[in-house]
Amino acid sequence: MTNNEKIKPSNSKKICYAKPNHIDTIFEIEKKCFPGIIGYSKNQLSYLISHTNSICLIEKIGKIVRAFLIINYRKNCLLGRIVTIDVDPAFQNQGIGLRLLESGEADMKQRGMRWSQLEVSETNKSAIALYQKTGYIFKEKIEDYYESMQQGTCDALRMIKPLY
Ligand SMILES: CC(C)(COP(=O)(O)OP(=O)(O)OC[C@H]1O[C@@H](n2cnc3c(N)ncnc32)[C@H](O)[C@@H]1OP(=O)(O)O)[C@@H](O)C(=O)NCCC(=O)NCCS
Repeated sequence: MTNNEKIKPSNSKKICYAKPNHIDTIFEIEKKCFPGIIGYSKNQLSYLISHTNSICLIEKIGKIVRAFLIINYRKNCLLGRIVTIDVDPAFQNQGIGLRLLESGEADMKQRGMRWSQLEVSETNKSAIALYQKTGYIFKEKIEDYYESMQQGTCDALRMIKPLY
C-alpha cells in the first residue's frame, strides 16, 4: 500500500441513494418501526425506491443501513412529498432522523422544490416533535387517513415547510 492510498474507516457514516438490493433491509426497518401495524408492504417499498418519481435516501454506518427516507416528486409541482422516514429503533434518538430529513430537504431544493409536505399520524409524538423542530407547520387535519385491520382508522396531520 502506498502513502497516497486512503483507508476508508469501516464505521464511516454516509447518506446516499438506496439501490434495489437494499429493499430487504429497508423492509426490515419498516417492520421494526411499525410492529403489528400495517405499514408499507415490501412491494410498495420496492416500487417506491425504484420508481422514477421517487427517491429513497439511506443512512449507513459502514455497511449497516440504519434509516431510510422516501420522497415523491410530481411533474410540474414545486412541492416534494415525504412518503416516510424510518430510523431503526436500535439507532433512534441519535440525530439520524434529523440528518436524513435535512438531506431529503437538500435533495428537494436541488430539484427546485419550494415546499416540503408530509402526513403524520396525530398520535406519533416523536415524529411530530422532529417535524416541528425542523420548521414544519400544521396545514390541515385529514380524518381516517391511516387504516389498519388491528387498530381501525387514525387521523393524520398534514404538515408543510417552505424550503427557501
Ligand atoms: C420519528 C423518527 C424518524 C425520529 O428519528 P430519530 O433519529 O430518532 O430522531 P433524532 O434523534 O434525529 O431527533 C431529532 C429531534 O426529533 C425530536 N424527537 C425524536 N424522537 C423523539 C421522542 N421520542 N420524543 C420527543 N421528541 C423526539 C426531538 O425534537 C429531537 O431533537 P432533540 O434530540 O434535540 O430533542 C424515529 O423516531 C422513527 O423512525 N420513528 C418510527 C417511524 C416513524 O414514525 N416515522 C415517521 C412517519 S411519518
